Amino acid sequence: MIIDHLDDPLPGSSLRPTPTGAAYTDREVFAREQADIFEKMWNCVLRADAISSPGEWKKVTVGREELIVVRTRKAGVKAYYNVCRHRGMRVCTGDEGKAKKLQCGYHAWTYALEGELVAAPNLTAMPDVDREEYGLKPVHVRQWLGYVWVCLAGGDSTAEPPDFDTEVLGEVRTRFGQVESIDNYGIENLKLGQTKTYDVAANWKLIIENFMECYHCATIHPELTEVIPEFADGLASQRKNGEVHGSSFGEDIQGFTVDGSAGVAALPAIAPNQDRKYYAITVKPQVFINTVPDHVIIHRMFPVSEQRTIVVCDWLFLPEVIEGVAEGRYDISKSVELFHRVNLQDFEACELTQPSMSSTAYARGGALVPSEHHIEEFHTWWQSTLALLESAEMHQVRVG
Ligand code: FES
Ligand SMILES: [Fe+2]
Repeated sequence: MIIDHLDDPLPGSSLRPTPTGAAYTDREVFAREQADIFEKMWNCVLRADAISSPGEWKKVTVGREELIVVRTRKAGVKAYYNVCRHRGMRVCTGDEGKAKKLQCGYHAWTYALEGELVAAPNLTAMPDVDREEYGLKPVHVRQWLGYVWVCLAGGDSTAEPPDFDTEVLGEVRTRFGQVESIDNYGIENLKLGQTKTYDVAANWKLIIENFMECYHCATIHPELTEVIPEFADGLASQRKNGEVHGSSFGEDIQGFTVDGSAGVAALPAIAPNQDRKYYAITVKPQVFINTVPDHVIIHRMFPVSEQRTIVVCDWLFLPEVIEGVAEGRYDISKSVELFHRVNLQDFEACELTQPSMSSTAYARGGALVPSEHHIEEFHTWWQSTLALLESAEMHQVRVG
C-alpha cells in the first residue's frame, strides 16, 4: 500500500518506516494532495511589497488553480481566480503587470481592482446582470510576516477558510515555543535582499522531509556545519531533548555567512536567546522559515507535479541594510551564498532520491533513524489528511 508505517515492519527497532515509494510518484496521490492539502490550506504566495501600488498584480499558482494577486485602490490586497466570468479566458496574461482595471482580452469584460464587473460590450443592454455576482471569483487573503497568504477553501471567499491562527500560527507556536518569539525578528518590516527560484525535480514531500532533519547535514552541508557545528550531530534545530532549541553558532564564527565572517546589522529586537542562534520552522504545507540574528530566510514551495516542485527562497534584511547595499556600505552576498549553497545541496539530494521512489527496491519505503523520528508526525498528518488507507482506488496502485 502507499503508506504502511502503522504496520511497523521493524517493531522495537531504532528504525521507523516511511511511506512507500508510490507516495512520491503516483499521479493520483498528487492530485489528491493538490485538492485536499494545497487547495484547502493557507498558502504563502507573495511578498506583499512585491505589489506596492494600486493596480499592480502578480500571477501565482496554488494547487491546480491560477490566481491573480492585486493591490487595490483602497491599499488592500485581493486575490482572484484568473478566470473570466464570461467564457473563461485567462483575464491576466503574463506573470505580472499594472492596470487601472483588469480587462479580459477575448470580449473585453472588464473588472475593477476590487473584483466587480464594471464594463462589457453592450452591458447596459443587459441590466439584469449583477455586477458583483459576475465579478472575478475571490479567494481568502491574509497578510502575515509581510507576505500575502491565500486560501482556496470553499471554492470562493464566501466559504469559511480554516482558522489562520490555528493552522499557521499554531505551527509556529509548536515549533518556536511561542508565536511572539518570531515577532522579535520584525519580518513584516524587513526588505528583500535577494530571491532565488529553484526548479526541483522532486516530490514536495521529499523537500519537506529533507528540511525537517539534519541527519544529512554532516554529509552534504560542509559550510553549514562549519557555521553551526552541532548540526554535524544530525539534530534538527528545533529538536534537542524534545525542547525548542536554537542551534548555536560555532565559537569562532562571527556571522551566518558562507565563510563564517561577520554578517550585517543585527535585527534590533531579537531576544538574548536568539543571538548567535539559528532557528528553523516548517509551516505546513509549503513554507520554511529560518531565522538568524541579522536576516531571515523564507522558502515557499509550489508543487507542479508528483516529481517537480518550484521553490522560491527569499533573503530578508533590515531596510537600512538593503539601502546600504545599494550604497556599497553593506555586502549581503556571503550571507545569501551560505543558504543558496545549502539549497543546492539539499535539492540535489532530493533530485537523486526521486528516481528511486519508483524502484522495486523502494517499493516498501525506507527508514527513519531516531533523529528523524519526528518526521513521522508529518507522515501521519499527510496520511490522515488524504485518508489514503480508506481509499479503494488507492489500493490499485499498491506495490509490493
Ligand atoms: S471570455 Fe472574457 S470577455 Fe469573453
Ligand atoms: Fe539540508
